[in-house]
Amino acid sequence: MRIDIISIFPEYLGALDISLIGKARRDGLLDIGVHDLRDFTHDRHRTVDDTPFGGGAGMVMKPQPWKEALDSLVGRADSGRPRLIVPGPSGRRFDQQLARELAQEPWLAFACGRYEGIDERVYEYAAGTLGLTVDVVSLGDYVLNGGEVAVLAMVEAIGRLVPGVVGNPESLVEESHEDGLLEYPVYTKPAVWDDGTVVREVPPVLLSGNHAAIAQWRHEQRVRRTAERRPDLVHPSLTGVDLDDLDVRAATPADVPELLVLTRACWLEEVAEVAPRWRGPNESLAEHTAALTEWQTWVVRSHGRLIASVRARRKPGEPHRWWIARLMVAPDQQGTGLGRALLAHAEAQAPADITEFWLNTGRWRAANQRMYKKAGYRLLPGSSEVHEVAVDLVKPRR
Ligand code: ADE
Repeated sequence: MRIDIISIFPEYLGALDISLIGKARRDGLLDIGVHDLRDFTHDRHRTVDDTPFGGGAGMVMKPQPWKEALDSLVGRADSGRPRLIVPGPSGRRFDQQLARELAQEPWLAFACGRYEGIDERVYEYAAGTLGLTVDVVSLGDYVLNGGEVAVLAMVEAIGRLVPGVVGNPESLVEESHEDGLLEYPVYTKPAVWDDGTVVREVPPVLLSGNHAAIAQWRHEQRVRRTAERRPDLVHPSLTGVDLDDLDVRAATPADVPELLVLTRACWLEEVAEVAPRWRGPNESLAEHTAALTEWQTWVVRSHGRLIASVRARRKPGEPHRWWIARLMVAPDQQGTGLGRALLAHAEAQAPADITEFWLNTGRWRAANQRMYKKAGYRLLPGSSEVHEVAVDLVKPRR
C-alpha cells in the first residue's frame, strides 16, 4: 500500500519510522512518503498561509502550494490516483469500519491542514480537476492544532490492517471494535500479585484450563464493559435497548426548556403515584440552567426529541463519591431499558478516582428500584428512615 502525507511539519511524522509501522515500511509492505508543503512555495519566506477573506480569527492555508503538492503526487503516478484524506474536526468520524475500508485502497494521500484550515478551492480542485475522491475525516469531537496527530493515528489504524503488518493476524480478530464490542480484561503472571496494599488475584476461571468457560467469561466481560463504557455501541439484541437512533450528549442551555418539560412529566407521574401530598420540585428555567454548571448533565434524543436525561457530579467534601441524579425517561419510553443504559453512561463518565456511585431515588417506585438493584445498587443502611419520599442507594465502583 502506498501512503503519501503532505505537511508543513514533516518531522512530526517521524514516528512512522518506529515500531510495527516502521518495520512494515522497511519490509516494503507500506510505501510511505512524507512531503513538505513548503517545498511547493516560491517566496523567500516559504509562505503557506494568509488572512481569511471576510475577516475572522486565524490564518487560512493558501491554495497554490497545495495545488502544486497534489500535482506533484498525481503527476508522478504511473498508474491510478490516490484517495485524498483531509483530517479535520468537521469531517466524517474515523472508526474501525472506515479504517477497514481505507485499508483496501492501493493508495492514500493525506493533506495535513494547520491554522483555520485550507482554502476551500483546494478541495474543489482535488475533486473536480484532479478527479480524486476526497474525504474530510475527524478523529473525534475535539479540536487538534493540525492534521498530523490525526494522520499518525489513522495510518497506524489502517496500516495494521494491511496483510503482513501485524505478525499474528489472530490478534486483529479479537480486538476492541472489530465486532462492535470492547475487549475483555487481560491478565498475566503472577497469578497472585501484592500491590503493596492489597493482594490481587487473577479471576480463577482464567486459571481453570476450561476453554469453553474462559470464552464464556470473556464474552460476558466484553458485553458488560461495552454497556458500561460505551452504551452507544451496545447492540439491541444484547440489552433490549434500541440505542441505534439515539443520540446521547452533554446538555447545553438550549436543552433546558425540554429538560424542564421532561422533569415535570416525570415528577407528575412520581407525585401522582406515590406521594400525592408532595408537590415535588417546581424549578424554574433559570434554576435548571444554573444546574447545568453544578452538574454534568446528559440528554438523550431520538429522532430529535429529548426523551431522557441524567446528571452526575462530585459533591463538596465527598471526593470519591459520584452522585447520579435525575435519571429521567419520558413516560412513553419507560420500560425500554433506556434508563439502565443511561445509568451506565453516567457511571462511565465518573473520573478515575471515584470509588462509589450514589443515587437518590423515589422511595415507592418499585420498578426503578428493581432496575437499580439489577445494576448493582444497594439500599444505604438507615436510608429509608431519613427521607420521606426518597432513598439513597450505593454501589461500589468495580
Ligand atoms: N485536525 C484538527 N482537529 C482534528 C480532529 N478532531 N480530527 C482530525 N483532524 C483534526
